Amino acid sequence: MPVHILDHPLAAHIITHLRDRTTKPATFRTLAYQLSLLLAIEATSDIETEEKPIETPLEPVTGRVLAHQPLVVVPILRAGLGMVQPFTDIFPDVSVGYVGLERDHVTAQARSYYCKLPPLAGRHVFVVDPMLATGGSAAKALSIVKEHGATDTRLLCIVGAPEGVAEVERHHPGTVIHLAALDRGLNARKYILPGLGDFGDRLYGT
Ligand code: PRP
Ligand code: URA
Repeated sequence: MPVHILDHPLAAHIITHLRDRTTKPATFRTLAYQLSLLLAIEATSDIETEEKPIETPLEPVTGRVLAHQPLVVVPILRAGLGMVQPFTDIFPDVSVGYVGLERDHVTAQARSYYCKLPPLAGRHVFVVDPMLATGGSAAKALSIVKEHGATDTRLLCIVGAPEGVAEVERHHPGTVIHLAALDRGLNARKYILPGLGDFGDRLYGT
């Protein structure tokens, strides 16, 4: 399966501060924004452009602009919300859909509690969730967007575990995954190691 891992000194710098247990929610949100921006740029490096003739103050030139093929970003609530703003900042025409999933604290199984999606057929759909642990949430979200017509789906996560990557591959072979870091594995409670703890709790100070 194509797994792309951010390879940039800035990404390493940001993720180290995100992992740090002393990082407070306000800084954590800023760092999450910055890392998600790097991921969004990387994951959209192959989207279509088209020619556009313009005139500079000096002469005519044919430049390139994004082709009219609006993107859709789908955060998995709640923590995925922390990865949306980079998309809305750099792609003004992006649509946002929502999938609400919550992991049971005992079984670690993801339960669906909300779904609100724009039309997805024929559009690039970016499912975003900072943590890819067992992969149950991501696999379920990918199934939901496909049931709603998505055919071109990509998954963007900040930290992934090998178990999560394997689970997504098992249910959705060939899905392109972009990660900022691929960690060692999961602990007995299905938290990523070394990871950064509970992303949603740290993002929202809960
Ligand atoms: C976290 C995280 C993912 C999920 C990953 O969400 O944001 O959605 O766990 O775990 P998995 O790969 O084992 O499914 P959580 O269920 O804690 O909900 P939250 O976003 O509301 O905090
Ligand atoms: N969800 C989190 O927020 N962190 C983990 O390590 C695993 C699931």
